[in-house]
Amino acid sequence: MICTSADLRDGEDGVRFTVRRGGREVPAFAIRYGGTVYAYLNRCAHVAVELDWESGRFFDSDRQFLICATHGALYVPDSGRCVAGPCRGGWLEALPVIERDGGVFLAGGAGD
Ligand code: FES
Repeated sequence: MICTSADLRDGEDGVRFTVRRGGREVPAFAIRYGGTVYAYLNRCAHVAVELDWESGRFFDSDRQFLICATHGALYVPDSGRCVAGPCRGGWLEALPVIERDGGVFLAGGAGD
């Protein structure tokens, strides 16, 4: 389980976790937007750095976009598409998640 459903509130702080990629743990995060949980690798499409300087702070001040703290790229929360900033047109790598029985889980095949 990544976290409980109650840990993710719409437009508020996300939950950081890791997934296995190529035999190592890489950072990822989950957020809730429009009532639905989304998860992405925590890696900007511009430079391979984590988006949040302040742990779990992924939304911009308007809570409309996910923002990279390094150079300010803005991502659409429900698709991971970058709509502003140096990597405009790029994408966050989405991770499939499911929510059930009060918990948020990675869907099968999301790790290795
Ligand atoms: S590293 Fe994210 S916008 Fe440059």
